[in-house]
Amino acid sequence: MEKRTSSPYPSIDRPVLAAIGVVLVGATAFFAYSDRQHDYKWYQAEFRSQVAEKFGDEKAAGVRAGVQQVWIPGLQRADRCTTCHQAVAWKGFEDAEEPLRTHPPEILKAHPPERFGCTSCHGGQGWAIDTAAAHGEVAHWEEPLLSASLGDAYTMGTNKGALIQMNCNVCHRYERETPGAGMINRAKALVEEKGCRACHVINGRGGTIGPDLTAVGEKAPEQYDYGRLSGQQTAFAWHVAHLKDPRALVQDSVMPNFHLSTTDAQALSMLVLSWRPARMSADFIAGVPRADVQTAEQKRAEDEMKTGPGAWFVQTGCFVCHSIAALGVKSPAQIGPDLSTAVDDTQKRFGMTVDDFIMNPTGTMSVVLTRQIVLDTEQRKVAIQKLREAFAEHQKQQAAGAAGPAVVSHQPGS
Ligand code: HEC
Ligand code: HEC
Ligand code: HEC
Ligand code: HEC
Ligand code: HEC
Repeated sequence: MEKRTSSPYPSIDRPVLAAIGVVLVGATAFFAYSDRQHDYKWYQAEFRSQVAEKFGDEKAAGVRAGVQQVWIPGLQRADRCTTCHQAVAWKGFEDAEEPLRTHPPEILKAHPPERFGCTSCHGGQGWAIDTAAAHGEVAHWEEPLLSASLGDAYTMGTNKGALIQMNCNVCHRYERETPGAGMINRAKALVEEKGCRACHVINGRGGTIGPDLTAVGEKAPEQYDYGRLSGQQTAFAWHVAHLKDPRALVQDSVMPNFHLSTTDAQALSMLVLSWRPARMSADFIAGVPRADVQTAEQKRAEDEMKTGPGAWFVQTGCFVCHSIAALGVKSPAQIGPDLSTAVDDTQKRFGMTVDDFIMNPTGTMSVVLTRQIVLDTEQRKVAIQKLREAFAEHQKQQAAGAAGPAVVSHQPGS
């Protein structure tokens, strides 16, 4: 025993230690296994006793035991959540502790769990039967439970319970408004208001200056470049930061800084991440619109402007980003400056004539004229001529004292 030198243990003890090791590993595995078994069995026993207490032994005897499952071929989902969440469809457990509480009933009227399961709204791992795994709190699971706790982790404050709306919108994406999805509705209004479609294809409509966003929610978290992002490195955090200041993350981006509040950036991030293909058969989205078309109002305004004096700018697509007030053209998005005074302004803004600017544009317009509105030299000459005509009209109106500031909103027909 005294000659213990290099090894802290005498060689004679090794078999013993090995045996102890095996026993320990075995015991850990056994306890982990039985603990797992325990988990849902314990909740089921607890539920049965609560039912017995409230409604009597006969009712309690009818409480289902063992693993419960809803298999929905159309959604390719097998959800076992009700193995623990047994009270979902029961009345009388509204104040019980989770997982034994009655489900808020309203939402399940239009989406009965026999047809929709649980994970299509909540996320999580449908087939798992222990709490952490079922709630998707495991590495490499891409559909975590969109719970209030995750909302907390994403610093969503009073909106922490809203994350679930991302999953609502996988089915309801073509609706302008979905009752019960307030954050998503807000974000959809922002997409219209800020004119994201000026540069992005969204639901099949829009420009090509930025990437097509139709399936951007599918991008794996590892595909984002977190190099310039401080704090949390999640896809959600990336989008919030990017929406608040695109160039802070993508240095040469021409995406504008819209000066969004944190809540608006979070709402838009939820919307953007909800844009992923719905892996479900058509009847699951049958009751909701399947295309996202212009409203009658938008269409009418566009048609009217198409025949007015600013027709060229509307037909060419400049009006997507620019108003030309002097010609009665009002851009829905107003991402670029009003073009009524461009002849004058390019000199001030870019230090070049409008001719040089259109022939060799910089910044956003260099991307616009190479990717979205590709004009050859002859067409660019037309553009310059049209900009001069607009400026002439502007000066005429100024002289007549008729026009206010260049960005004044024009009522067609007034
Ligand atoms: C092994 C039992 C078990 C299974 C299976 C299970 N849960 Fe839970 N669930 C719990 C327990 C316990 C709680 C309360 C404690 C907690 O939040 O972790 C809970 C809480 C929740 C909450 C509220 C969480 C919050 O932060 O507000 C939601 C939502 C939920 N579960 C959904 C699901 C869904 C969806 C599934 C199926 C994918 C599921 N659960 C499967 C045990 C389970
Ligand atoms: C159509 C979507 C939808 C389906 C399907 C659905 N839920 Fe819910 N669930 C909701 C909404 C919405 C809430 C309320 C969230 C809130 O008010 O913050 C909710 C609340 C809950 C809660 C309470 C915790 C919380 O976050 O408020 C639990 C637990 C829960 N659901 C479990 C389930 C289980 C288990 C199933 C399947 C049997 C299921 N849900 C099916 C939408 C759904
Ligand atoms: C798996 C796809 C799917 C998911 C996820 C989903 N819905 Fe639905 N929802 C539908 C379908 C389909 C209908 C139409 C039901 C029918 O056939 O009558 C519907 C109906 C509705 C209605 C009723 C519309 C009406 O005219 O009565 C509301 C409101 C609604 N959903 C909100 C939500 C909210 C909020 C969520 C998220 C918590 C959600 N949905 C999640 C597919 C879905
Ligand atoms: C003037 C053009 C322009 C407008 C307007 C614009 N974007 Fe972008 N957007 C871009 C460009 C260019 C990129 C690629 C460079 C980058 O990531 O910043 C981009 C990138 C993105 C990305 C990242 C896509 C990916 O695959 O990484 C999202 C998401 C996005 N934009 C959302 C929006 C939203 C939401 C709006 C409206 C609030 C909007 N954009 C308005 C030009 C624009
Ligand atoms: C996708 C949005 C978008 C479209 C479409 C677009 N522009 Fe622009 N344009 C901009 C932005 C943004 C600026 C401001 C300069 C910058 O940010 O680089 C600008 C600047 C200009 C300027 C300089 C204006 C000034 O006052 O300095 C001219 C001229 C111009 N655009 C002409 C056009 C013409 C002509 C078309 C149609 C052929 C067009 N633009 C289409 C976004 C757009």
